[in-house]
This record gives sequence, structure tokens and C-alpha cells, in this order.
Amino acid sequence: MTQPQEHRGTAGLRFPCGFGWGTATSAYQVEGGITANDWFAWERTPGSGTVDVAGAACDHYRLFREDIALLAELGLGWYRFSIEWSRIEPLEGAFDAAALDHYAQVLAACHEHGLKAGVAFHHFTNPLWVSADGGWENPHTVERFRMYCDVAAERLGAEIDLAITINEPNMPPLLGYSVGWFPPGIRNDDTWGRVNDNYLAAHEASREVLRRHTDAPVGMTLAMADWQVLPGGEAHLEQMRGRREDIFLASARDDDFIGVNTYTRHRVGAEGFLDVEDGIELTDMGYEYWPDALEATIRRAVELSGRPVIVTESGIAATDDQRRIDFIAATLRSVHRCLSDGIDVRGYHYWSALDNYEWNHGFGPKFGLIAVDRETQQRTVKPSGAFLGRIAAGGVLD
Ligand code: GCO
Repeated sequence: MTQPQEHRGTAGLRFPCGFGWGTATSAYQVEGGITANDWFAWERTPGSGTVDVAGAACDHYRLFREDIALLAELGLGWYRFSIEWSRIEPLEGAFDAAALDHYAQVLAACHEHGLKAGVAFHHFTNPLWVSADGGWENPHTVERFRMYCDVAAERLGAEIDLAITINEPNMPPLLGYSVGWFPPGIRNDDTWGRVNDNYLAAHEASREVLRRHTDAPVGMTLAMADWQVLPGGEAHLEQMRGRREDIFLASARDDDFIGVNTYTRHRVGAEGFLDVEDGIELTDMGYEYWPDALEATIRRAVELSGRPVIVTESGIAATDDQRRIDFIAATLRSVHRCLSDGIDVRGYHYWSALDNYEWNHGFGPKFGLIAVDRETQQRTVKPSGAFLGRIAAGGVLD
């Protein structure tokens, strides 16, 4: 397979009026000062493989107003962030009103600046008291998560414009219980399957709870890739994609939308999962540069879920910001091809607003539209941020 052709865009690709142009972050990756969750412990676990600790991150817990103002000045209309379970419920049943008030202020800041707010109730991290009692292997975590969502959504639900139960419920099971890069660092495919089931149950339970507290659309965001099969790989493809994506897309059939998070393609052959292809450009995450993957995942998400799509994450780890601009333009052409075929795509949220803590990769990979000086926390808007802002403001990709 050859390098994807750079689509020579036809001038003036127009997007629908009201299309949701935005960007996203997650609490642990940007806020700073979070200490009572499993990632804080995992970073300090010998052999975990994490290269940094999140520490102060981007100090977003303190600087959120300035950051939101920057996004509004760029011309974006949506900001998606996550609320941190361990701040809101640091001990089981002990809910922190000040933490909930903080997130109410973040929502207010979004609306004061004319931004709609997407809120993820879970983005990879869990309170220490949850992980200490079996974490997501323990089926009781489903009820614990449902209760947390009930309390948080009662306080915040009226101000939320898009409610995400769980960001990528397919990833912590895979990365934490099969691959071992995420906490708790288990490598057992049977456990992975049980944890998948608990995440699915938690999504469905929290979806019903959130609907009681918000009129906003409720759904999940799902990490999806463009899976390409080589001869002899068909059985592997069905097995791998089935448990990583399809069981979640089936659950999403009862949701209000499906959030698609896509970065690259995967290849599967007779011998199973294949490494990146020789000669294909790689991003700073070691992913193949494959912007057309987003078209494939949008089409498949709609096919299997039957739900409207929001591109809730598309982005590139790159120090060369021009490559980020190229990537955004190419992925938006992907989206536009889907729209031209009548597929109901409601928005595009670039990952990420800020250069931030990329989990086990630390602060090395730069995904942001806005650079953050690690020493001074100084923000610098990149040309890619202005590029996406201009498209958002005019609704046209030139
Ligand atoms: C994910 C998460 C983000 C990542 C982003 C880049 O999809 O893994 O939602 O937290 O930072 O995807 O890898």
C-alpha cells in the first residue's frame, strides 16, 4: 500500500452551517495538581514505562479562563474537557462541592466566551479508592461510576452542551489489561474481556443517569482506526476489531451520537497485527501519517451505530506545525467527503487545544494548537491554531 495521496483540495469546501468546530483536553493531561488517582501512582510505579510525571501539567486548573478566551479568540465554537472523578469524589461517597464548583466555573467561562462545552465524565483516570478495590475488574465499579455521574451531572448537567459518559471506553481495557502500558499494567486477555464488559455496563448505566440531568446529547467517544486487511488477515481483523471497536459501536446504537477519535490506520495480515509499513511517513507518536483514516472510521461508525457522528478527536503529534496544518486540511477533506455523501457529521474537535501530558509518552509529543512553555506555562498560539480558527469562523476549507 502506498502513501496516501495528499488530496489537492478543491478551493472552498463549505461545511454545514452550525457545524461544531472545536478542540479538546482532558483533566489529568492539562490541569496539574491531581494526586489522588491511579495515574499519579502509575507514573511512580517502577517498570510502568512512563517517561514523565504529569505534575503541574499545563496549570489549566488555574489558567482555564485564559485558555478558553484564547480558543474563543481563535474562532472556535466548542471546547471539550473532562471532569476529574478523583477531585469530585476523593473518597468513596465524600463528594467535594468545591471541585464541582470549579467545573461549574469552567462551564460558565465557556459560555461567557461564546463556546459550547462538551464534558467527559471519565477520561482514563480513576480515584485511588476505586483502583485499590479491584478497579474495573470489580463489577461494583460500574455502580460506583454511575453514582459519581449522578452527583456530578445533578450539579453540572444544566450547563453541559454535549455529555460524554466515558472517553474511549475501549482503550483503558486494552492498554491497562492486555497491552500493559496503562494502569494497572496487566497483560491478560481474559481479564481484558471482563473489563470491556464492565466499561460497557458503565457507559450504559451512566448514559441513563446523565439523561436525567441534561438535555444535551449523551454518548461515548471511541478510539477507532482505519483497519486495512491483507490476504489471510480476515479472521484476525474480525477478532481484533470486534473486541476493540464493534462491541462498543453496538452499544452506541442507543446513544444520541457517536464520538469518533481517529489518528491513523492499522494493518492486519495472516500473521496478525502488522507493524507500520516501510516508507510511510510517521508522526511523533510513531503512527503512520494517514489522514484518510478518518473517512473510513466515520463511515464505519455510522454503519455500525446508526448514530450521528462527531469527530471528537483528530490530531497529530508533530513539532513541525506546517505538518499539523497539512494534516488538519487533509482530515477535513476526509470529513467533507463523508458530508458530501449525506453522512450526518455534526462537528470536528481537534486534539488537542494545548501541548500537554501524553500519558506514558510524557510531554514529548506535541499535539496542541497552542504551545505551552514547560518552565513558564506561557501559551503561544501556533499557526495551526489560527488556521483551524479561520476555517471555523468561515465554515470553509480553502
Ligand atoms: C486518546 C486520548 C487522548 C490522547 C490522544 C493522543 O485518544 O488516547 O483521548 O488522551 O492524548 O488521543 O494520543
